[in-house]
Amino acid sequence: MTWLITGGAGYIGAHVVRAMTEAGERAVVYDDLSTGLADRVPDGVPLVVGSTLDGERVTRALTDHEVTGVVHLAAKKQVAESLSLPLHYYRENVEGLRVLLDAVTAAGVRSFVFSSSAAVYGMPDVDLVTEETPCVPMSPYGETKLAGEWLVRAAGRAAGLSTACLRYFNVAGAARPDLTDTGVSNLIPMIFEKLADDLPPRVFGDDYPTPDGTCVRDYIHVVDLAEAHVAAARALRAAPGRDLTLNIGRGEGVSVREMIDRVNALTGHDRPPVVTPRRPGDPPRVVASADRAATELGWKARHGIDDMIASAWAGWQHLHPPTAARP
Ligand code: WQD
Repeated sequence: MTWLITGGAGYIGAHVVRAMTEAGERAVVYDDLSTGLADRVPDGVPLVVGSTLDGERVTRALTDHEVTGVVHLAAKKQVAESLSLPLHYYRENVEGLRVLLDAVTAAGVRSFVFSSSAAVYGMPDVDLVTEETPCVPMSPYGETKLAGEWLVRAAGRAAGLSTACLRYFNVAGAARPDLTDTGVSNLIPMIFEKLADDLPPRVFGDDYPTPDGTCVRDYIHVVDLAEAHVAAARALRAAPGRDLTLNIGRGEGVSVREMIDRVNALTGHDRPPVVTPRRPGDPPRVVASADRAATELGWKARHGIDDMIASAWAGWQHLHPPTAARP
């Protein structure tokens, strides 16, 4: 069985490729390299450079490599950018998925794992978000992920394709420094960036209805997330006709202030943060119930916050080596 991993040259995709191949699965990467890096694709794993909007190219990749399962991660993922470029997000994330599913169902692929997001929930008003919590996305990005789930389930039912929609919570960390996230659009790299510039990290609002007034999130190590994909892919293969929707989180909330304190401690800094105004659209608390993934997949996260911070910090230093001391 060969798995086509779209977006396999991206930050999360590269970790999924690594986990799949380490688990003994055959993988082929399909990536347009718009943000992905060819260097992240391991030796021995074929890389097909193409867009999921290019149905002919997808079909050729599926047949050339005798693909029987797809893990679809290729997508645009910046919430703020999606607000200014909604049509671009719908084209890439929804139309790209529709074209992909057309090719996948025509080629007789049996299993499809879809990269969804906690962004489908919007502003959940519950302590722990379950898969039954209503989906009310607050951004075009979140809308495209929810619409993507609808497409995946509908196409799966019609074509006898087994499907899994994995709703990622806040992903962090790296398996190795060279696989780290190169973007600086999430909390941990944004803290690093400030510390590296000798500036205080920023807290976007401390008047939320949470214990310390700062937003609470469920951070998940990318290595654990990648292992959830392996477990989902295997569950689909073992039991055709499945239709899974699963939160992929740890079920543990960490506040922005707690995160900044841990980053300071683990990276040898001592920089108190500054509080700036709230970032529009931020929900106070988004923490997963991870029970269903445990029941359905036998999967559970193994890594904690310190592992995420330490591995992300090693990745940051790999990307930003200290400049040589001047004589
Ligand atoms: C976390 C918290 C910020 C930077 C987004 C998407 C979500 C998913 C993950 C893709 C928030 C606060 C941040 C800083 C801060 N993406 N913050 N100071 O917004 O929870 O989730 O990324 O699937 O869909 O919405 O993640 O890392 O941007 O922010 O106080 O310098 O940290 O306000 O409360 P977010 P984030």
